[in-house]
Amino acid sequence: MSEIVEKDIMDIIRELKERGLDYSDEVFLITGGAGFLGSWLSELLVKLGSKVICIDNLATGKLSFIKHLLNFDNFKFIKGDVTRGVPKIDTSYDYVIHMASRASPDDYMRYPVETALANALGAYYTLELVRKNDAVYLLTSTSEVYGDAEVVPTPETYWGRVNPIGVRACYDEGKRFSEALAMSYYREYGLDVRISRIFNSYGPRLRGDGAYGRVVTRFILQALENKPLTVHGDGLQTRSFTYVKDTILAHALLLKCERCRGEVINIGNNKETTIIELAKLILELTNSKSRIVYTKPREDDPRRRKPDISKARKLLSWNPQTSLREGLKKTIEWYRRGYK
Ligand SMILES: NC(=O)c1ccc[n+]([C@@H]2O[C@H](COP(=O)([O-])OP(=O)(O)OC[C@H]3O[C@@H](n4cnc5c(N)ncnc54)[C@H](O)[C@@H]3O)[C@@H](O)[C@H]2O)c1
Repeated sequence: MSEIVEKDIMDIIRELKERGLDYSDEVFLITGGAGFLGSWLSELLVKLGSKVICIDNLATGKLSFIKHLLNFDNFKFIKGDVTRGVPKIDTSYDYVIHMASRASPDDYMRYPVETALANALGAYYTLELVRKNDAVYLLTSTSEVYGDAEVVPTPETYWGRVNPIGVRACYDEGKRFSEALAMSYYREYGLDVRISRIFNSYGPRLRGDGAYGRVVTRFILQALENKPLTVHGDGLQTRSFTYVKDTILAHALLLKCERCRGEVINIGNNKETTIIELAKLILELTNSKSRIVYTKPREDDPRRRKPDISKARKLLSWNPQTSLREGLKKTIEWYRRGYK
């Protein structure tokens, strides 16, 4: 178990308690609960006294992220693939959170059918479960639903500019379909649905290795190993990086937000950073001798990503608190201590 994660989780718990929110004795199903964000959310809820059932096929998640939770009576892990349904257990759920999906471009482009189905069928099976249990549904969607956005900062009302048959469509359109399905269940059956659109979250447990690597942790690993930092294209494309503690706090608030039924909310940092700036900052913080090398641009790679977060501010009273420098320092430290 990592002290860095544990301390951040304690900070989130303190904040939730200060706001008077209670999660104890409620039953949560989390698909993808052994992944980066899923394992943080599982850990938070277990420590808040909720009962958590985590379903994950370990496609990109890791048992080491949740191993310590297996000692808690209120945590249960079931290895399962959401494209085949949700394993039946003798429990009724108060909340169902659908997070299962490959999320790294290199990885989902290798497994496009599985990715599209984890989103489409995974949403269908979990929504049916919500219908039977009269539970609250939280879908973790993505800024990728906006595609190569022409409106920046991008508000939730922007419809998106996505290539529906491109190499990223399995993910982008998979998420767009799961959003559409969730809203259909909300409209037709009155389900209590809420959707987050996450913009590049990073932190301890975000994998940096191989095809699972996402840009922040890929750069960190490359820098720590004094290997070249590989920038796709000219590096002037921007992203908005949100430290995981801020992302998880937002999701815990969204679960309990009374005014968020049927709402979709951007969860991200409104500070825009170019990939080159990110690479340079990581080189500085790791004191690395690595060079930056430029590789060919990725197909359909969006040029800019910057959320309009006024809705999250208003409905959740939430703002990202952690600067990129501070979040990167913690993430680098996590990797330096040998966690992977
Ligand atoms: N981290 C981000 O910046 C970010 C941004 C936008 C959206 N999201 C969304 O948040 C969710 C979690 O992402 P993450 O960053 O933690 O990624 P992750 O890869 O670490 O977690 C995804 C988890 O889902 C599991 N999974 C994948 N396919 C599955 C299947 N068919 N059945 C069961 N489990 C399956 C994986 O094993 C993994 O544990 C995803 O839905 C992702 O699309 C994340």
